[in-house]
Amino acid sequence: MSCARSVSHVTIIGGGLMGSGITQVAAQTGHRVTLVDLDQNILDGATARITKSLARVAKKKFGDDADGAKAFMDTTMGSISTATDACSVVKDTDLVIEAIVENMAVKHRLFKELDSVAPQSVIFTSNTSSLSIAEIAEVTSRKDRFGGLHFFNPVPVMKLLEVVKTADTSAETLSALTAFGKKLGKVTVECSDTPGFIVNRLLVPNLAEAIKMLERGVASAQDIDTAMKLGAGHPMGPLQLADYVGLDTCCFILDGWSEKYPDVELFKTPESLKKLVSEGKLGNKTGEGFYKH
Ligand code: CAA
Ligand code: NAD
Repeated sequence: MSCARSVSHVTIIGGGLMGSGITQVAAQTGHRVTLVDLDQNILDGATARITKSLARVAKKKFGDDADGAKAFMDTTMGSISTATDACSVVKDTDLVIEAIVENMAVKHRLFKELDSVAPQSVIFTSNTSSLSIAEIAEVTSRKDRFGGLHFFNPVPVMKLLEVVKTADTSAETLSALTAFGKKLGKVTVECSDTPGFIVNRLLVPNLAEAIKMLERGVASAQDIDTAMKLGAGHPMGPLQLADYVGLDTCCFILDGWSEKYPDVELFKTPESLKKLVSEGKLGNKTGEGFYKH
């Protein structure tokens, strides 16, 4: 079977911040979706998040048309199923999108297992923020059917999707991933498999610089954020955005890059970021980070 066939069933692994957003958008745009996470409690939380976010979309789309909104919600939620065992669902899927923790060893363990059970036609992708797609794909026997699909938070709102190709990603795979991205309603950009792809290579050092500026006492967190919102037209200031992305995710990204590229000053993890993470202050998701939420 050709891997350039259109995608109808998507398996999304990881029902956290990103996986639940990707599930929502895929279901909203006519795909059948199976969402996988480690246990049913997490999946119930993800389903509740998706329902809440979908209600915002329905409100915007249907206004006072309550019947239209209900039908949209029912159809969308009805096309989502959940599972705790990824291996049992990938036999019947076209595309896997992995959105689990940003850790190479954990991603390797997952993909090695999936590769041994998924039919060869299934395309594998990772939503990694910072790891090498080629390195993740190394443990599989389908390097030509492996690419990056990098979404942005909040997925239902952010219009961009980075489609990442490695030296081995086939032209067919790339075109299937781009077509899928467009069907999701995203604007796609194609990018090589380099650290941070396009957006994070420019954005994450910017967040780190803002944290280092705060450490130097140049200005308060509020004033740094206000300055970048009103002086550079950004929708959120950098410290607000770091909290929004998750300080653990920011830390994983910078730690990984600074280990791999120790000479790049811009990649050094700020000490105050490490401290907040070690205290469990991860930003919006735990209620405290650079700000109290
Ligand atoms: N689901 C559905 N709709 C949502 C939503 C959600 N989860 N969150 C917001 N919206 C919608 C709202 O309904 C609203 O729609 P209307 O304007 O049509 O009414 C619109 O989005 C704006 O929402 P709000 O009014 O609540 O808030 P806002 O205007 O302050 O915008 C924001 C919120 C969209 C998050 C905006 O602040 C923003 O763009 N921030 C920057 C986000 C960003 O940079 N993300 C990228 C992070 S980096 C990343 O993701 C990559 C990585 O690898 C780390
Ligand atoms: P998160 O911590 O919110 O969610 C991760 C989920 O994966 C959790 O629910 C966890 O239980 C689950 N999980 C972990 N190991 C698993 C396994 N083996 N099988 C099934 N489920 C497993 O993280 P997130 O912010 O959604 O990030 C997920 C991925 O997306 C990371 O690679 C991250 O770098 C990337 N990403 C994050 C953002 C962001 O703004 N947070 C943006 C783009 C990309």
